[in-house]
Amino acid sequence: MKILLTGGAGYIGSHTFVALRQASFEPVILDTFANSHPAVVQRLETITGQPVLLERGDVLDTPWVESVLRQHQPVGVVHFAGDKAVGESVAQPLKYFHNNIGGAVSLLRAMTAVHADGTVPTAPTLVFSSSATVYGDPASVPITEDFPRSHTNPYGHSKLVIEDMLTAVRAANPAWRVGTLRYFNPVGAHPSGLIGEDPAGIPNNLMPFVAQVAVGQRPCLSVYGNDYPTPDGTGVRDYIHVVDLAAGHVAALQALLNRGESFTVNLGTGRGNSVLEVIKAFEAASGCPVPYQFAPRRAGDVAQCYADAALAKELLGWQAHLTLDQMCADTWRWQSNNPMGYRM
Ligand code: WQD
Repeated sequence: MKILLTGGAGYIGSHTFVALRQASFEPVILDTFANSHPAVVQRLETITGQPVLLERGDVLDTPWVESVLRQHQPVGVVHFAGDKAVGESVAQPLKYFHNNIGGAVSLLRAMTAVHADGTVPTAPTLVFSSSATVYGDPASVPITEDFPRSHTNPYGHSKLVIEDMLTAVRAANPAWRVGTLRYFNPVGAHPSGLIGEDPAGIPNNLMPFVAQVAVGQRPCLSVYGNDYPTPDGTGVRDYIHVVDLAAGHVAALQALLNRGESFTVNLGTGRGNSVLEVIKAFEAASGCPVPYQFAPRRAGDVAQCYADAALAKELLGWQAHLTLDQMCADTWRWQSNNPMGYRM
C-alpha cells in the first residue's frame, strides 16, 4: 500500500519514510527540496535497502499533485510540506500563509478531485503534521487536546487555520478520514547516523544549536532566560525522539485505515525537560562540553509546554519510549558523522 509523503525528504518526513517501509508500506516522497536536501534520498536507500519513489515538485501545483495521486493511488497521504521557523514567520507572514495554508488547500483540492471522480477508489485519508504551538501559552501543564487554541505567530496561525480547514472538509464530506498530530519538540536522529535534522543557517531550535556547539561549529549557546517559574529557571519542553514521532505517524495511518474514525492527538512523551537538563544530557552523551551563557528571554517563548500523551495511547496504541539520553546520543552520532549536515 502506497502512502504519499508531501515534504517527505524533510526531517520528520524522512524518518517517517523509514518507519513506513519497516511497517511494509510503500512510501512515495513528494518534495521540492526547498527545505531539505536531495542527499537524503540516497541515505534513505542505504537505510532501507530499497529504491526511493520520488516525485520532485511543489504541493502548490494542484494539477501536478492530482497527476501524482492518480499515478500512485496512495491509500493515504501524510502532509509534512511547509515552512516551520517561528521567527521567520513573524518577519515573512505571507510566505507562511502562502506556503503552509496555500499548500494545504492545494493538496486537499487535489485529493478531493481524484476521490470525487473515482480515480482513487479508497476513502480520502490524510495525516496532518500539526504542532503544539496551536496551544499558544497554555494556562497549565500537562496539555490535553481539549485545551484552548491560540496563535502567537504566523507559523502557529497557519497550523491552526489548516486544522480548521480539515474540520470543514470533514463536515462537508464525512468520507474523509483525518488524523491531526500535534508534535511537541521533535529532536534526535535515526540510530544509523545517516539522516537527521539539518537546519539551514543558524538553528532556531535548541537541540541542533547544542549539537553544533558540542561539535565545535559554534562557540557558545545562549540560554534564553533563567528567570522562568520552572525548577531551574530555564524553559521546559516535551522533547520527543523523531523515531518515536515517526512511529506515531504509522500508528495514526493504521488507525485511520483500519477503523476510519478521525482524531486529533498530542505526540509527546508527557515529560518536560529544562534547557539546562538538555545541556547536561548532551554533554554526557557526547563527552564534549557545551559552553553557555544566560541571555534575555526570547519573545514568544512560554515557560513550560509538555503533553498529556494519554489520548494517543488510548486511540492509537502508541506511546513514546526513547529517553532524553538516547535523543542526545542519536543527535550526537548524526552531528559528529555529518558536521555540515547533508552538505558534504
Ligand atoms: C526550546 C527551549 C527556548 C534555542 C519551536 C516551535 C514549535 C516547533 C519546535 C516546529 C526554549 C530554549 C532555544 C536557543 C535556548 N517547531 N532555547 N537557546 O520554541 O519550544 O518550539 O520549535 O514545529 O512549533 O514553536 O523550541 O527548540 O526553539 O526552544 O535557550 O538557542 O530552548 O527558550 O525554552 P520551541 P526551541
